[in-house]
Amino acid sequence: MSETKKNVKLRSAEWFGTQDKNGFMYRSWMKNQGIPDHEFQGKPIIGICNTWSELTPCNAHFRKIAEHVKKGIIEAGGWPVEFPVFSSGESNLRPTAMLTRNLASMDVEESIRGNPMDAVVLLVGCDKTTPALLMGAASCDIPAIVVTGGPMLNGKLNGKSIGSGTAVWQLHEQVKAGEISMHDFLAAEAGHSRSAGTCNTMGTASTMACMAEALGTSLPHNAAIPAVDARRYVLAHMSGMRIVDMVWEDLRLSKILTKEAFENAIRVNAAIGGSTNAVIHLKAIAGRMGVELELEDWTRVGRGTPTVVDLLPSGRFLMEEFYYAGGLPGVLRRLGENGLLPNPEALTANGKTIWENNKDAPIYDEEVIRPLDNPLIKDGGICILRGNLAPRGAVLKPSAASPHLMQHRGRAIVFEDFDHYKTRIMDPDLDVDENCVLVMKNCGPKGYPGMAEVGNMGLPPKILAKGIKDMVRISDARMSGTAYGTVVLHVAPEAMAGGPLGIVKDGDIVSLDCAGGRLDLEISDEEMAARLAARAELKNDLPKTGYAGLYVDHVLQADEGCDFDFLVGMRGSKVPKHSH
Ligand code: FES
Ligand code: MG
Repeated sequence: MSETKKNVKLRSAEWFGTQDKNGFMYRSWMKNQGIPDHEFQGKPIIGICNTWSELTPCNAHFRKIAEHVKKGIIEAGGWPVEFPVFSSGESNLRPTAMLTRNLASMDVEESIRGNPMDAVVLLVGCDKTTPALLMGAASCDIPAIVVTGGPMLNGKLNGKSIGSGTAVWQLHEQVKAGEISMHDFLAAEAGHSRSAGTCNTMGTASTMACMAEALGTSLPHNAAIPAVDARRYVLAHMSGMRIVDMVWEDLRLSKILTKEAFENAIRVNAAIGGSTNAVIHLKAIAGRMGVELELEDWTRVGRGTPTVVDLLPSGRFLMEEFYYAGGLPGVLRRLGENGLLPNPEALTANGKTIWENNKDAPIYDEEVIRPLDNPLIKDGGICILRGNLAPRGAVLKPSAASPHLMQHRGRAIVFEDFDHYKTRIMDPDLDVDENCVLVMKNCGPKGYPGMAEVGNMGLPPKILAKGIKDMVRISDARMSGTAYGTVVLHVAPEAMAGGPLGIVKDGDIVSLDCAGGRLDLEISDEEMAARLAARAELKNDLPKTGYAGLYVDHVLQADEGCDFDFLVGMRGSKVPKHSH
């Protein structure tokens, strides 16, 4: 095999291809792993970027997946090198895995650029690991393919299926309302997560797995094959084989991650009832590629699309059923044959267009992947809101909201931050009824460094006791993709960055108009200006040093994808200087 097969010069040859002092060093130390001489000769070196960690339980099975990727790489004539990167796990990491998404992306980018690799396989699963690895690889713009770890089997409780995350929110409200005992609540833990894999609802992990497939960065079916299904390992093997050819075809991420690909992903997000977190992550990935993606693209491309995938938290089923029903290829076919795939010619990782890949995909269960004329939600997608309360935008997920609250005026009950919320919401004397609007400040990217998933504030116990399940809630926080409710999120600018959310007072009237795309505080412009001017110095007990200090200083607002200002853009994969 030649180093310039199909005119591609291997970047790894700049390490391993010279007969001099540097070549000696690069090869010799690698040989301590028992690699024979011929493996360095003209083969694509494929990095396997692994987010394996026992502290990221969703990704704890990844070493086995990596072994199957390696088999595929070797079969296709490449040489695999597996390396670890920071694993931002959703369930354990405090204060929020979002705080370290950008850190992980830096780790990925510098690992790729500084090391002898010609392409990379991105092993992703838990929510933040997918955008982090795509962001890092995008900034390098080398050939890359995503292999997702796959969702868990259905959770089980008392003989019925329960969904990851969604069940936690539901069961906790049931405990607070006195409907179930604490014993039953705790007993549900084991059945909730009973196999390897990521959350099995259409939460952020499943959403981002679908986004990676819709963007064209993975092989078909990558999103939904269960983690423990043997076909997950076959897909890993096939992805390993494919990435070697992607090197020879010079099929870089910039040829796949185009504006057209992002439009396809936005449409798919609407069709699957995907997570609001995708708005932030897709923006961040697009930003690395230099692709212009605005909140209005979510309105233009996403709104009006029927949600046809009937999965929790919006619908009834789980990822296991989604795979058996036909998975994302079934959804792409359904969209495409009805003229709803915006860019069928978009190129994907296997070298074919997204339409070529999916045009014949079967759908086996129309309860799970529903017909367009009998959708779960007629008008899915993400609702983008603007107004004097959110000049730079806010989001709401209609499929997870209550239709009767999507046009609503109510009296604000204001919480200064999450701690204030937690104490005040339990106060039996809190003057609140179900028509009020719960407003929480200081939970945005800077205010709660990392922008925690606390936006789906639980309701006051006395409202729950009345059997009420939903109220309008507004904040600059995010919410878990597994959560639900009429919840306005990502208000930008956030309170801690001087946004008008910071001047809302108890008793103010807030109006939400999803159809009109508005979120307003019913005060005059003069009153708004006076309150902003009189606003007390922003409290500033934010971290000044360490990684969190860097984060607070450089994180962009939600409408900009919460990337660091200095990480936006593509820096390429030019081989750095020698180290000695
Ligand atoms: Fe990892 Fe949900 S906590 S995917
Ligand atoms: Mg999550």
